[in-house]
Amino acid sequence: MALVTKAIKGTQDLLPADSYKTRYVEQSMLDIATKFGYKEIRTPVFEHTELFSRGVGDTTDVVQKEMYTFDDKGGRSITLRPEGTAGAMRAFLEHGLFNEPLPQKVSYLTSCYRYEKPQAGRLREFHQFGVECLGTAAPAADAELIALGHEIFSYLGVEGLKLEINSIGCPECRKKYHAALREYFESKKDALCGTCLDRLGRNPMRILDCKSPECGEIAKGAPKVLDYICEDCSAHFETVKKHLDAMNIPYVVNPTIVRGLDYYTRTVFEFVSTEIGAQGTVCGGGRYDGLAEELGGAKTPSLGFALGIERLMLLMQAQGTPLPEEQRTDLYIVSMGEAANVAAAKIAASLREEGISVQYDVAGRSVKAQMKFANKLGVRNTVVIGDSELESGKIIVKDMDGGESVEMELDGFEDSYQSYLIQNAVKDIAGADGFEVNISDLF
Ligand code: HAM
Repeated sequence: MALVTKAIKGTQDLLPADSYKTRYVEQSMLDIATKFGYKEIRTPVFEHTELFSRGVGDTTDVVQKEMYTFDDKGGRSITLRPEGTAGAMRAFLEHGLFNEPLPQKVSYLTSCYRYEKPQAGRLREFHQFGVECLGTAAPAADAELIALGHEIFSYLGVEGLKLEINSIGCPECRKKYHAALREYFESKKDALCGTCLDRLGRNPMRILDCKSPECGEIAKGAPKVLDYICEDCSAHFETVKKHLDAMNIPYVVNPTIVRGLDYYTRTVFEFVSTEIGAQGTVCGGGRYDGLAEELGGAKTPSLGFALGIERLMLLMQAQGTPLPEEQRTDLYIVSMGEAANVAAAKIAASLREEGISVQYDVAGRSVKAQMKFANKLGVRNTVVIGDSELESGKIIVKDMDGGESVEMELDGFEDSYQSYLIQNAVKDIAGADGFEVNISDLF
């Protein structure tokens, strides 16, 4: 296939036949986040490279191997965002949102870019729904954040996800842990990959999430962070668990979760599936109490998570999770001849103004072809307007689901059609047995 008609490896198109499903899922997530007090934030798709090398951390796989970085025409080093947290924090600091009541709760739907090896659930352009709760150190916030993730999955009807939580402590307890890790990995030095050898000196925790299978095997025997966290971090973690228990949110403590990004402190968590292959982490997040300072701001303890849209859609597909049906076109106006086509355009315009979805022929098709097209679209109703209908002033609304056909006056058709839709909706609500409803009683 010619290059110009082939998408770049690791990218994916979302086609019209499926887009409504993703839109439903995304809208549901935004709506649920709104219930928790989150408001949407939008930040640029590219930022200064330094934001990510400092924020995400220059010993992470993301920064060392996966970023789309380039110099722009002005000679600045620019990076396509590999994730949403650093940009959200940058915007929080730049616009002085720390002067607003805290915590500031922000949500986002963004595309992200990572040069990873593409496979099922792993793309080079992917999408995240994320939330960030900026400016609170209280453990209640950690549990509320996890509850938000939990509610999203249960609202969407996704089953079988395991919530795994851990605490990776603060920079103070991290020192002791780093020392223990160094000691352990020093003894296995010969088997580590080149990148991990470098990490051994700079940030031995990063060896724990190296993607090389050899390093992964060695990492299994490494000391566990939970054995090294200080009293304060431990008390924080206990309170988070107490809140989760109180909210009946099931979880397991997994002491091997360290997350792949450097900014995390204390609570970290993942929602993991075993049904979508090796890339089973659908959602991940945690606390990042030091990120604001790392970027030059004042201390702003914060936390958040991001959920991979493509992975979630894969999982919902694997589980056959029911989704609402796609919105159908209400009415297709089949027109015969120029005058009828103009009448169709006029009727469509006024019905659309009332919020009704209408289509008519914009391709110069024959009546037969228009009928076929309307059928393929799966519209609810059709009407035919031709010279004889224009002359007689009467048209027939045909219910494409096999219901009765109804004759209406062309004059005032817009009002009659709306009443007809209401009448049908009431019948649907009343059920098959139905009851008589007089439309005039409704107003
Ligand atoms: P992350 O774990 O790197 O965390 O990514 C979050 C989610 O994005 C993953 O659980 C996964 O579902 C999805 N994801 C990551 N990489 C890919 C990929 N290559 N292809 C498809 N999906 C992918 C973060 O990005 C943090 N910013 C989350 C966070 C927000 N922490 C605090 N606040």
